[in-house]
Amino acid sequence: MTPARIAPSILSADFGRLADAVKACEAGGADWIHFDVMDGHFVPNLTVGPIVLRALRGETRLPFDVHLMIEEPLRTLDQYLDAGAARVAVHVEAEPHLHRFAQVVRGKGASPGVAINPGTSLAALDAILPSVDFVLMMTVNPGWGGQKLIPSLDRIRQLARAIAERSLSVEIALDGGVGPGNIQQLVEAGAGHFVAGSSVFGRGDVGRAIADLKAAARSLPSAIQGVTT
Ligand code: DX5
Ligand code: ZN
Repeated sequence: MTPARIAPSILSADFGRLADAVKACEAGGADWIHFDVMDGHFVPNLTVGPIVLRALRGETRLPFDVHLMIEEPLRTLDQYLDAGAARVAVHVEAEPHLHRFAQVVRGKGASPGVAINPGTSLAALDAILPSVDFVLMMTVNPGWGGQKLIPSLDRIRQLARAIAERSLSVEIALDGGVGPGNIQQLVEAGAGHFVAGSSVFGRGDVGRAIADLKAAARSLPSAIQGVTT
């Protein structure tokens, strides 16, 4: 099994020291930097835009994983791609023209994904699934960091099954409430990419937090542990 990829969300970092935060993530073994872009409309909170992405692009070699929680994302999508996004997710709840979105992203050499809220039926993914590289399955309602994960194991398994049945190559990424205490179950259910905000930046030592998440993701399933110990 491929090791779990960790994408620290800078939403939980010190916004006065974002350059230091992305450098600490790179030094600590992160795989991506996750940007939570919020517009005060699709979600109530307001965060960063393409100017901040561009400013941080020169500070790290890690690829940028951009999560657009904004209305009418096609209006400004180019700006995020030009600022250095390696992959971008828009919400199925916010964008009616998902294939056009995927075409624009691929046209710029980046990777398209769709984000889906916990309350939205997975059927909303059916038509777009073959045209994206990943699904960003929300395990909280988007808007803030530090929320508790909404139990989603069945939903992850269901999506993993749908991807396998259609012989697609679509990664399941999870976002919200991921920590060392639940990541192993989430890996087992079929996810491979994990956004982690408070569990990376809330503990003082970013490198240790990332290492703990990776170690927990690799640990044996609890059932097997019961047999061997
Ligand atoms: C929620 C964001 C998440 C969030 C994750 O709207 O999309 O990326 O920052 O933070 P934690 O890991 O603290 O739930
Ligand atoms: Zn996010």
